[in-house]
Amino acid sequence: MALIRLKNVQYIYLEKTPLEREAIKDISLDIREGESIGIIGKTGSGKSTLIQLISGLLYPTQGEIFIKDRDIRKWNSKELCKIIGIVFQYPEHQFFAETVFEEVAFGPRNIGISDEKLENCVREALITVGLPYEEIKDRSPFNLSGGEKRRLAIASILAMNPEVLILDEPTANIDPKGKIEIMNYINRWVQSKNKTLILVSHDLDEIIKTVKRVIVLKEGKIIFDGLIEKLFLNYEKVEEAELELPEILKLRKVLEDKGYPLEGAFTLHEIVERIVAFKEHISIWKS
Ligand SMILES: Nc1ncnc2c1ncn2[C@@H]1O[C@H](COP(=O)(O)OP(=O)(O)OP(=O)(O)O)[C@@H](O)[C@H]1O
Ligand SMILES: [Mg+2]
Repeated sequence: MALIRLKNVQYIYLEKTPLEREAIKDISLDIREGESIGIIGKTGSGKSTLIQLISGLLYPTQGEIFIKDRDIRKWNSKELCKIIGIVFQYPEHQFFAETVFEEVAFGPRNIGISDEKLENCVREALITVGLPYEEIKDRSPFNLSGGEKRRLAIASILAMNPEVLILDEPTANIDPKGKIEIMNYINRWVQSKNKTLILVSHDLDEIIKTVKRVIVLKEGKIIFDGLIEKLFLNYEKVEEAELELPEILKLRKVLEDKGYPLEGAFTLHEIVERIVAFKEHISIWKS
C-alpha cells in the first residue's frame, strides 16, 4: 500500500478567472512508508503547490489524492495532522504565541495530547532540534536568533510526531554551519523513528546528502522520478530541468571531459578513488 498516492492530479490557482494559472499538471505519484524523497525544480515549477496538495491544504482541481488508500478530502484535518506534518518556507513568520513553550504546545494540544504528556512532548521536541528546554521555554519566540527561530518552527511540527515530515526549504537563509546542524537534527529524527521525509530544497548538496529518490518538476510536470545518482549522472536531464550542478559534480564533469574514467562515481570519495586508481594504472603502464 502506498502511504501517499496521487492520480492524475492537476491544480489551477484562481480557476475560471483571468488570472488562472495551472501550477500542477497531471501528476501521478506513489510515496511509500519510510522513503526519503527530494523535490527539486527551478522557481515557479510547482514544488510548494505540490506539497500543499499532499498535506491537504489545497485540494486538486482534477484528479485524486489518497492517504493510506483513503481520499484526502475524507480525512478530517486533526487526523491528517497526525499523519502529515508540514514546515513551510520561512515558518518563523507565522509565530503567534507569547512563549516558546506555548508555540510548541499548540499543535500537540490541538490534536488532543493529555496535559500530563504535554510538557514531556514539548521538552523532547525542543531537545530534538538542539534547543535547551529550561533556558528557552519561557522566552518570546520573536526574540530568538534566526537559526533558533527556524529550529523552533521545526520543533513545533515534530512535537505532533507526524508519520510524514514535509519541509519546504528548511535551511533557506541560514548560515552554512547552521544549515548542516538543522539537517543533522532532522535526519536523526527521521532515521531513529523510521519516518517518511519529503524535502523541498534549492540546495542540491543538501538533497544529495539526505535523500535517495528525487522528483524533478518543470512547469508543473514531473520530468524525472528516480534515484538521485541517475539524475546527476544524466547531464541532459539536469540541463532540461535548468538545475545548477552541485560543486562536486561540476568537478566530476571537468575531470570526465579531461578523460578520467569516472562512470558511476558520484560522491567525492568515489571520485577521488577513481582518480587514484587511474594514476596508479598510468604509472605502472609507463614504467
Ligand atoms: N496563491 C497563488 N495564486 C496564484 N498563483 C500562484 C499562487 N501560488 C503560486 N502560484 C503560481 O503557481 C506556480 C507554482 O508556484 P509554486 O509556489 O508552487 O512554485 P515553487 O516551485 O514552490 O517556486 P519557489 O522555488 O520559488 O518556491 C507559479 O507559477 C506561481 O506563480
Ligand atoms: Mg516554493
